Amino acid sequence: MIKRFNFQVHSFISQQHPRLWRISCSEGEKLYTTTMAGSCTGSFKAADLVIQLSSSPKIKPDVVDFGTVFTDHMLTVEWNANEGWQAPLIRAFRNLSLHPACSALHYGVQLFEGLMVYRGDDNRLRLFRPILNMNRMANSAERACLPAFDQSELLECIRRLIDIDQDWVPHSDSASLYIRPTFISTEPSLGVKKPTSALLYVILCQAGSYFNTEMRVLSLWADPKYTRAWKGGTGDCKMGGNYGGTLFAQYEAASYGCQQVLWLYGEDHQITEAGTMNIFLHWINDDGDEELATPPLDGIILPGITRQSILDLTKKWDEFKVSERYLTMGQLYSALKQQRLKEMFGSGTACSICPVGSIVYQGTNLQLPYQEKHSLSSRITTELADIQHGRSPSDWTYLV
Ligand code: COI
Repeated sequence: MIKRFNFQVHSFISQQHPRLWRISCSEGEKLYTTTMAGSCTGSFKAADLVIQLSSSPKIKPDVVDFGTVFTDHMLTVEWNANEGWQAPLIRAFRNLSLHPACSALHYGVQLFEGLMVYRGDDNRLRLFRPILNMNRMANSAERACLPAFDQSELLECIRRLIDIDQDWVPHSDSASLYIRPTFISTEPSLGVKKPTSALLYVILCQAGSYFNTEMRVLSLWADPKYTRAWKGGTGDCKMGGNYGGTLFAQYEAASYGCQQVLWLYGEDHQITEAGTMNIFLHWINDDGDEELATPPLDGIILPGITRQSILDLTKKWDEFKVSERYLTMGQLYSALKQQRLKEMFGSGTACSICPVGSIVYQGTNLQLPYQEKHSLSSRITTELADIQHGRSPSDWTYLV
């Protein structure tokens, strides 16, 4: 049976009210349809979906490494400046055919998203805060000069794609299905200009553990000679260049025996992100208050959905101060020396929550405290997993 969310009134079926349409969602989770002057000729509509099922479904392997095995189908939606959006299409997963001058390849005119669908203990499939991904995708599209689209229509197309490939969602608490919406310019010419054609597509892959490591904590390498993002740049958008540009530093980190880069910014060595993750400090701050802190969204920080969820969750607990504030290596170092640091951890969709065990910084290997059993990160991980798998009722999950 085909279920459909009625997004015309910007509504969703929530887990708690499976039969009710909601006119609005909780703060921060409203749908916005962005428009960009001259670039949007309406939007594609999920009602126009064309579905061509694969004639040769693959044998599903046991859950493998993150992002290596893809499901049977994909969603594609084409756009061009003359005719606007074409009908969305769900078809067998296949290679793309691109013009060699395509500006996604030459100038990185593209973006992507990442979200998960989880199989609950009740065997139902849940998306986690997908509206936040749609909002972020619309922001990235605007910044990339890619055409606007109706976020609710895309979400409904994604829901239909998941529904078709639902058997691929792992029966596991430690694995899920990762959804990778991607939006590329297919402009077939070498001028650096706004695209006249584009392709939005969505692929799905199984997601086991993101970090291919036995270690429970991450080792980081911090050197201010590399910068992930800068004010006025695109660090707050999910664009491929933000990630491709980090590879060189990532391998230098490996040469120091570290797994990821701790990205610093500015003269005062502000702590910004780690690898592809947002970063949190749990400490007794300079004023003697227990605090969970993460850098503010000032343009160089990716507005992570897990980041937002950690802030929302811990603010609701109301047990300690929760802040979005600047954090420097100097403050971290003092806190560590004075035994005020409780824990440092990274967060992201792919990796969920990942404690940091050590940081190589200015020739010193700083050892950070971490107690697996009673850490804040493990408590947050458990609460989020309970929501994602339907054990705790929440407005953050949407049934597929
Ligand atoms: C995610 O956590 O969704 C990410 O974007 C990481 C990705 C680059 C693998």
